[in-house]
Amino acid sequence: MVQYSNELKEEIRAANDIVDVISQYVTLKRSGRNYFGICPFHREKSPSFSVSPDRQYFHCFGCHKGGDVFTFISEIEKLSFKETIEFLAERGHVTLPIEQDEGFNEKQYLKDRMYKVNLETTLFFHERLYQPLAKIAQNYVKERKLDNNTLKAFKIGYSGEYNELYKHLKSQGFKDNEILATGLVNKNDRGEFIDRFRKRLMFPIMSVNGKVVAFGGRRLDNNEKSAKYINSNENLVYSKKQHLFALNLAKQTNSKQIILVEGYMDAISLYQRGIQNVVASLGTALTEEQGRLLRKYSEQVLMSYDSDGAGQEAIMRGLEILGTQGCDARVIQMEGAKDPDEYVIKYGSERFNLLAKNAISLVEFKVKMLKSNYNLENATDKVRFLKEITEILSQVENKIEQEIYIDKISKQYVISKEAIYAEVNKQAYKNQSSKDNNILNRPVHKEVKVKEEISEAIIKRENMILYLLINHYEESVVDITSNILKEDFKLEVNQKIFEAITNSKEKSKERILQVLSNIEDSDLQSQISEIMLSDYEITSVQKCIEDIIIIYTKERLNNRKLAIIKELENSNLPNEEVSRLEVELNNIIIELAKM
Ligand code: UTP
Ligand code: MN
Repeated sequence: MVQYSNELKEEIRAANDIVDVISQYVTLKRSGRNYFGICPFHREKSPSFSVSPDRQYFHCFGCHKGGDVFTFISEIEKLSFKETIEFLAERGHVTLPIEQDEGFNEKQYLKDRMYKVNLETTLFFHERLYQPLAKIAQNYVKERKLDNNTLKAFKIGYSGEYNELYKHLKSQGFKDNEILATGLVNKNDRGEFIDRFRKRLMFPIMSVNGKVVAFGGRRLDNNEKSAKYINSNENLVYSKKQHLFALNLAKQTNSKQIILVEGYMDAISLYQRGIQNVVASLGTALTEEQGRLLRKYSEQVLMSYDSDGAGQEAIMRGLEILGTQGCDARVIQMEGAKDPDEYVIKYGSERFNLLAKNAISLVEFKVKMLKSNYNLENATDKVRFLKEITEILSQVENKIEQEIYIDKISKQYVISKEAIYAEVNKQAYKNQSSKDNNILNRPVHKEVKVKEEISEAIIKRENMILYLLINHYEESVVDITSNILKEDFKLEVNQKIFEAITNSKEKSKERILQVLSNIEDSDLQSQISEIMLSDYEITSVQKCIEDIIIIYTKERLNNRKLAIIKELENSNLPNEEVSRLEVELNNIIIELAKM
């Protein structure tokens, strides 16, 4: 494997400001010197995720994840170290040296060829749709009311019979392994090559950048014996959970809002009728990766899923995923049609836009779901319903938002506002006291759990020493290293960081930060970022160092004092040893008194 040089890594770091990078995933608000937001790595309601533009570090005080821009990208995009370098190099327009590594080259080459196979296939299917022998597909397209511009925009096509595609690709010079790698053609037991998609209406799936990565094919008849859609399997260039159908087109509208639908046909149908900020998740469950993609290209997501039960379930999960990513996610409520495609065909895009305008939030959606379980004509049902909705409402932290919901709900379900408020307050009190008592809610350091109890005060002190060493290296290094040893640190991660700093031959703060950021251990990285982003309220560096040294010296003297006392209890000691220990003990007691 190739090693990228530290200089190159620093160049890439400089080209990717951590605040810019993280802003593409998390909504950040400035407060003082740092930025804060909702942590993308764990579920939380109030922001404990902070980013320091000065230090180029992030840290979450809730889940203790942290590090530099490389750590962030590697964690959030789930990339290896090498892939992270490549990702950020591309983002920062830094040119990487040509790879010497054979394996890598081969893989990159194959990927490249697969994209070319996919593109050639797209054009082949698309052109084929216009040929006389595609009459059945042309009729189907007419029946589904797709116009020619739409067919062109989505490069919709028609797949041939038996091995037509295989033969075509071979005639274009593609090798068997390249074709097989895309899954567009399979080899059967008899060694024959057979196209995967046959006589289907073909929808190419493109990446955000418009590269064809996969295909979906719809059957043209109503024969339930074969699957309605078949799709490409995952392969070297396609990971289902990381793509959204039509995002490459939706992106071009530059709209801050994206409409999220389930199916190919829903996206295509809305697009044709002028609603072009639409993408499809292709299946019911929205993945976290897809959520992040949406967040990257929009601020608000309106979900418009099928009105069946499965669709509603999927909405709930989708809203939660989008919510935790800091997206304003809402639900379009649709009646009179089973999906958005059917709706716009029946009622037109203006009415759909009206629905979009009245889209409801997660809270309102939850209340609506609950409502379907109760008969509000019935008094006991109404009381139960009230109890359940207040549970949802009391979790809304923003009071103004809460008030708006209460107002709406009171009108919609004919329940007095006073009754809702009374319940909400009761509930809020209950939530608070159970939170306080619940041991699981107390913040616990990863290491504290496994080792002996190490108090917060000790951790804070240790972190402060390292903070001083990193940020005030010249002023502090002599005093600290001559008075404090690696073994004095109770946290193992702190021992390691201390060792890395003191072993390094680099003597400036910048170089030390580099040394630290080159440590590829995620526990260490998160500890370093915690140290860098904590508030220590240091007024005088010198005074601070003195205080800490005194604490450690005292501790050491005290430990020695106890050890001597214990030794003196041993009656078999020779006399001269006893008097030596007594002198030492005396000196220690005097030292301690002076402090
Ligand atoms: P739908 O059944 O809602 O499809 O499934 P649709 O897009 O509305 O299609 P039409 O209108 O019946 O032609 C939603 C999505 O789920 C996936 C497809 O991505 C589809 O667009 N799906 C559905 C499959 O992958 N396979 C299937 O057999 C069915
Ligand atoms: Mn449909």
